[in-house]
Amino acid sequence: MNFEIGGTQALVQGVARDYAVRCVAPRAAELDASGAFPHEPLRGLADLGLMAINVPSDYGGAAAGTVAFALAVEEIARACASTAVLMSVTNMVGETIARYGTESQKRRYLPQLARGDAGVGSFALSEPSAGSDPAALRTTAAPRSGGWVLDGRKQWITGGAHAFAILVWARTAPKESGTRGISCFLVDGRADGLHVGRPEDKMGIRASHTVPIVLDGCRIGEEALLGELDGGFKIAMTALDGGRIGIGAQAVGIAGAALDESVAYARVREAFGVPIGEHQAIRFKLADMRVALDASRFLVLRAAEAKQAGKPFSRDAAIAKLFASESAVSICNDAVQIHGGYGYVREFAAERHLRDARVTTIYEGTSEIQRTVIARSALG
Ligand code: CAA
Repeated sequence: MNFEIGGTQALVQGVARDYAVRCVAPRAAELDASGAFPHEPLRGLADLGLMAINVPSDYGGAAAGTVAFALAVEEIARACASTAVLMSVTNMVGETIARYGTESQKRRYLPQLARGDAGVGSFALSEPSAGSDPAALRTTAAPRSGGWVLDGRKQWITGGAHAFAILVWARTAPKESGTRGISCFLVDGRADGLHVGRPEDKMGIRASHTVPIVLDGCRIGEEALLGELDGGFKIAMTALDGGRIGIGAQAVGIAGAALDESVAYARVREAFGVPIGEHQAIRFKLADMRVALDASRFLVLRAAEAKQAGKPFSRDAAIAKLFASESAVSICNDAVQIHGGYGYVREFAAERHLRDARVTTIYEGTSEIQRTVIARSALG
């Protein structure tokens, strides 16, 4: 077993860290306050090859692997959780196209996603009444004159207003219910009949622009089908397995920032005549935060390593996402407590980290869904 990060992985981590510190972190508080979309940070990430980290170089990707992806997402999330989720989802969309796309889909979408000049990638599976249970989705794709017509509503779509490529799941076999009869389509973000709603007014990750999308007679060509007809559910599950490593890494990044800031604060803030870091109550909290953070990081990297090695990793990704996201909420909550009153005001980042961390236990599969996946792997 090797716990060393070296070679390409260390390089990607270093590049991401440097960019995060210089260009992403200084904007994070302002982006959170204004809710403005992080166009510039994302362009910078694309220039560094971080929007298609695990996409083959033939299609403009960095081909650096899943471990490098996880390390890079962690670094960006440490600086700005909104920017990190846009990066993570775009990478997930790119990987899904690389895995299931035809040659012409790959040539058309991947180089532009990697360059970041046309927009981000979005993942449109959830609907107003189908989140944890995507098999209940109602959007339809009806065959029409050599193509498809999409009708339905999608919900919670990260970056949807700024998407170049959107993966849309729709029912292609209306008589089939449940997981069968669902297909995946690769839809241009500017397609006619695709209407993007207003960004949700969210508790955290306020700059990631989570939007509803209405598909109203949205006509797409027959070449928009991604993967096999009626085989979309498995594509969604496979993509989410990988995406959960990204969200686990995002949680580690947010929690890492909260811990670092707590340590710095505990050194300088005095109470009862000594820095608060001298009090056992604070020391034990910091120790527990460190343990949870390190365990989270190892679990995320274990899942990333398994995926990179081509081994089954669905359970490991669920374990990593569950533990890292729940730990991040707890670590960020403790960070607010350590900061006292200052943890509760916007002058310090602690409250932003807590708000940002909270969603990691919800999206790309709630903690309850991760437990379901883990329990099924044990019990069937
Ligand atoms: N990989 C490949 N195939 C898989 C799979 C996986 N991880 N999980 C299930 N499948 C296959 C099964 O083998 C089965 O295949 P067969 O029909 O050939 O037997 C088929 O898919 C159906 O599987 P299940 O019967 O297990 O399906 P289910 O309806 O019971 O659901 C679930 C399983 C794990 C609960 C799933 O519904 C799930 O993951 N739910 C959560 C969805 C989710 O994460 N949504 C987040 C949306 S994206 C987002 O958050 C927004 C964003 O932009 C960040």
